[in-house]
Amino acid sequence: MAALLATLVISLLFSTSIPTITAISEPVLYVFGDSLSDVGNNNYLPLSLAKSDYPWYGIDYYDGIPTGRFTNGRTIGDIIAAKLGIPSPPPYMSLSMNDDAILQGVNYASGGAGILNETGLYFIQKLSFDDQISCFEMTKLAIARKIGRVAAEKLSNGAIFLVGLGSNDYINNFLQPVLADGHIYTLPEFENLLIAALDGQLTRLYHLGARKVVFHGLAPMGCIPSQRARAIDGQCLGFVNDYVLRFNSRVKNLLSALNSKLPGAQMTFADCYSLVLDLINNPELYGFKISHTSCCNVDTSVGGLCLPNSDLCDNRKEYVFWDAYHPTDAANEVIANQLFTDPDVGQVHPAPGGVAPSPSPL
Ligand SMILES: *[C@@H]1O[C@H](CO)[C@@H](O)[C@H](O)[C@H]1NC(C)=O
Repeated sequence: MAALLATLVISLLFSTSIPTITAISEPVLYVFGDSLSDVGNNNYLPLSLAKSDYPWYGIDYYDGIPTGRFTNGRTIGDIIAAKLGIPSPPPYMSLSMNDDAILQGVNYASGGAGILNETGLYFIQKLSFDDQISCFEMTKLAIARKIGRVAAEKLSNGAIFLVGLGSNDYINNFLQPVLADGHIYTLPEFENLLIAALDGQLTRLYHLGARKVVFHGLAPMGCIPSQRARAIDGQCLGFVNDYVLRFNSRVKNLLSALNSKLPGAQMTFADCYSLVLDLINNPELYGFKISHTSCCNVDTSVGGLCLPNSDLCDNRKEYVFWDAYHPTDAANEVIANQLFTDPDVGQVHPAPGGVAPSPSPL
């Protein structure tokens, strides 16, 4: 029995094609996205106007200091990483390509980013999805230099690619009153543009080794405080939610088409629309009290971020929204739980490997 076990252990050890570096924790997670997923990349972009490196961002994260996360505590990516039993992948911009950390996972997300290059132009500097994929391309080359090309390919094939983009293409582009694609394209034309771009981008990621892709669909953005501020009665903007449903449905179809076309691709759509809408409509069912306005008393006329002179709510766990755009740590936890237990998504991630310590006192 012991001999059998020993043989098993030895064969497992030798089945890995990464012989020299022993400390790679599984699984490996690469995160792509916008301010919902940024863990500090924009702090390294000196000209970026999409920044959250000031109080009270991060008030509930580790030491309570701002990290560049656009929330009071953890992002959805942080929580998913913890559920997978691995450290939250560090911001790409904080790493040297010599760091062994790149073998464990990297976060490329950048506040203000969209699927389209022209999205979020007025933030001056950000990493668009195309830029983020180029950063992954550099990472992949660096990984191959460390462990060899075959092992680097295997590592990418086994890694989870969490992608959440599209919100800014609407909020900070199509729906904007000036200098926006809404003046150039009709809605169907704009959707075609987004889906064609996403098709090219996910195909590029596939050719860089990505197989297990989880696309995090859009939430009912018509209900975020910045959009309610545009409604006469403070209600959700129904037409914006309709745009979201149309986009989500197109992305689902795109992922199916890519899975049929690209051998080995396992691209899944993580649908959080219904859950977030229910959370907003029935906050008390989830232990929340307020969902129509944000905990940080923001002035939506000057951007909707939580500025240092803002008044915070008394109990941050009772609010779904932290600022005019971003959920609180507590709401992110609810969304991440659903994402993690989604059976479609379950196909691409292994069973929960371990319980990582929760960094947030919330
Ligand atoms: C963004 O710009 C780059 C460089 O000009 C271009 O190669 C790429 O196709 C553009 N991407 C989109 C989605 O328009």
